[in-house]
Order: sequence, then C-alpha cells, then structure tokens
Amino acid sequence: MSSRSLSLHSSCFASSFPSLPLPWLLLLLSFPLCALSQCDKPPIIFNFGDSNSDTGGLAAGLGFPINPPYGRTFFGRSTGRLSDGRLLIDFLCQSLNTSFLSPYLESLGSSFQNGANFAVVGSSTLPKFVPFALNVQIMQFLHFKSRSMELVAAGSERLINEEGFRRALYMVDIGQNDLSDSFSKNLSYPQVAKRIPLVIAEIRRAVQTLYDQGGRNFWIHNTGPLGCLPQKLSLVQSKAGDLDSFGCISSYNAAAKLFNGALLHLCQEMKSELKDATIVYVDIYAIKFDIIANATKYGFSNPLMACCGFGGPPYNYNVRVTCGNTGSEACNDGARRVNWDGIHYTEAANEIVATKVLFLGSGSDLLFPIICSGLSSSSSGIDYNSSY
Ligand SMILES: *[C@@H]1O[C@H](CO)[C@@H](O)[C@H](O)[C@H]1NC(C)=O
Ligand SMILES: *[C@@H]1O[C@H](CO)[C@@H](O)[C@H](O)[C@H]1NC(C)=O
Ligand SMILES: *[C@@H]1O[C@H](CO)[C@@H](O)[C@H](O)[C@H]1NC(C)=O
Repeated sequence: MSSRSLSLHSSCFASSFPSLPLPWLLLLLSFPLCALSQCDKPPIIFNFGDSNSDTGGLAAGLGFPINPPYGRTFFGRSTGRLSDGRLLIDFLCQSLNTSFLSPYLESLGSSFQNGANFAVVGSSTLPKFVPFALNVQIMQFLHFKSRSMELVAAGSERLINEEGFRRALYMVDIGQNDLSDSFSKNLSYPQVAKRIPLVIAEIRRAVQTLYDQGGRNFWIHNTGPLGCLPQKLSLVQSKAGDLDSFGCISSYNAAAKLFNGALLHLCQEMKSELKDATIVYVDIYAIKFDIIANATKYGFSNPLMACCGFGGPPYNYNVRVTCGNTGSEACNDGARRVNWDGIHYTEAANEIVATKVLFLGSGSDLLFPIICSGLSSSSSGIDYNSSY
C-alpha cells in the first residue's frame, strides 16, 4: 500500500460497509479503499462457480423457487442468492463501484455491460455436460462471447468488445460440491482424495480455455472448511472421534485442505506456463476458518449453527425442513451469526470475508490494479496466498 498514498474518503467506507462492528470500521478507515476503486475504465468481471457466488442463476435457469427469508437482510426479497443478503462477489463488485453481476441465464432486467455471472447453485466440475457443470458454464461463456462479437461487429456499443474480454477479470470459485457429493456418496477419505486431481484438471481446462479466448486476469478462490457446515455436522452419523477442537469434521476439512493444496499448485504451474497472465489464488479457507474458530472476536455466536432451519441446537439443520420451506424458522440475530441455512454464510459473515480479501491480506493491492488497468502484458503474475 505504501507506494500509493492516496487520499481517504471516509464516507465511502460507511456506505460500502454499513453494518460492520465498530472495531472493523476503525480498522478499515486506515486503508485507502475508495481512492483505489476509481478505475479509468469500468470493471468487467466474468464469474464461474456454485452457490457461493450464484447471484440468481438457478432461480432463472431452472425456475427453482428460493423463498424468503432468503434475501431478507439486504434485498428485502429473494434474489436467488443463497444467503440472507449479499455474497462475497457482491461485496467485491461494490468495492469496485460496479453493479452486481447479472446471472447469464436471467432474461429480464439483466445488464451484461460489466460482465456476466455463470455460477449456478449446486454446480460441480464433475460429471461434465450436465447443468451447470463448470465445462457447461465455460461453453455458455463461449456462446456469450461469440454472440457479443457478432453484435459488436454489427454496431452495438453497449456490449463487451474484444478489448473488454481481454482486460476482464475471470473469477472461479468451484470444488465444494465435488467434495461434498463424494462424501455424501459414502466415499472414504482416500477415495475422495483420489478424485481431487480430476477436479483440478477440470479447473485447469477451464482457465486454459478462457486464456485461449484472450482472458489474462484470473482470480481463483479456494474452498472453505466443508467440515464446519451445520448441514454436514447434522447429517454425518459417524463423526464421533472425527471432530476437531472447534467441533468441525476433521476428515472433511482435511479433504478441503488437500483440494486447496492442489489448487494452489495448479495456480503456480499455470503462472509459469501462461507467462503473460495474472493468476491470483485467494485463500478463502483460512479466512472462513478464522471466522469460525474466532467467532467471538468478530462479534459472532454459534458459528456451527444455522440461523435459518429447524431443530434447534446444536446445528439447527434438518434435511426435511430446510430454510425457506414450511416449518423452518430464521433467527432474529442474523447479523451475529456466521451460517445462514446450514450450508451458506450470512451476509454479515460474507462481509467480513470480503473485507479480509480486500484489505487484510493486501488483496486490494491486487484486485484494484488488476481490474482497473486490465493489465497489459507486463505482469509476471502475482500471488495472493494469505499466510495464516
Ligand atoms: C462510482 O460510480 C459513480 C457513477 O459512475 C461515480 O459517479 C462515482 O464517482 C464512483 N465512485 C467511486 C468511489 O469510484
Ligand atoms: C451411507 O452410509 C450410511 C451409514 O452407513 C447409510 O445409512 C446410507 O444409506 C449410505 N448412503 C449411500 C448413498 O450409500
Ligand atoms: C484466531 O485468532 C488468533 C489471534 O488473532 C490467531 O492467531 C489464530 O490463527 C486464529 N485462528 C484461526 C483458526 O485462524
């Protein structure tokens, strides 16, 4: 940060992060976010992934109803996001002063001038060629791009052109469902571990395809602590003896960490292969695990208990009475809870994650220059791997 001593507009923080606890606001005030968020050109983002970053794709694509209280905290209505409010990607968009990404599949009210969101709830990398596996999302992107090119060639000025596709940021956040599906098929830890290289190979293929299409800026999230999700904790019967000191399932978290190690290795490999690309690996696991392990420090309570669900403590999760369905109930103190529905994080937790991605691991030192300059060919590739 030191090389950029930009002036601070404190009012920006208040509007971007209105509900942070006071210590966080004070911490934020010492960072020049808003000055950094003024790009010469409007940011362009393409996102691929699962429910962690789906801004309405499942609701649009399959007409799948996602009922209130989903969306209650920020939007005041259900938007198809699996949270009570904004997701990490929404906070990243806000910090870049760009509008929320429209789901690629949403035909009404969408704008694709600042990119598109291909992420859909439930997506995995494998099996391929099923809605909405990563390779299908990439095929949708190829369609989106070639259609944009046709329309731009025909004179449209409101769509993304070749230069826009080149300077765009390509975000990938996938893998959680590959791990989760494997465990729910009763695969043992070694069997789950054996599948990880196949998943990583799919992510490699996706990034390579985007690169071949001209993409140069990649922002890759690793996967969170699967074994700390109330859904897993309530469904896994044989977890006694497999819980860590925080109450999370050790083997599930070990699988997540194994996946993350392989993903980091992939990012490092691709960085040396694709010399003119910038590839940023973001350690979401460390951030989420810290929030769970140190919940009180962040003003949270009951980090392993769903706010919205059924059954009460310890996990408040029942697979037959899930959030948004008849019989489920939502807690009143959502702003003090980490987990929303047993699988997904609350807006309050997502906000802290975003803050950490943007500030504390000096992520903003990366995100803003990458997205603002659209990085020409000068970069040799930056790594953000927060060292927890
Ligand atoms: C955000 O965008 C609006 C509209 O384009 C612009 O007026 C405003 O100055 C921008 N703010 C920041 C902090 O970049
Ligand atoms: C997994 O194992 C549990 C307990 O051993 C069993 O009840 C369940 O039916 C199994 N699930 C599958 C999909 O095989
Ligand atoms: C909890 O917070 C302490 C103090 O900041 C830190 O040292 C520790 O690594 C955190 N725990 C986790 C699991 O991140």
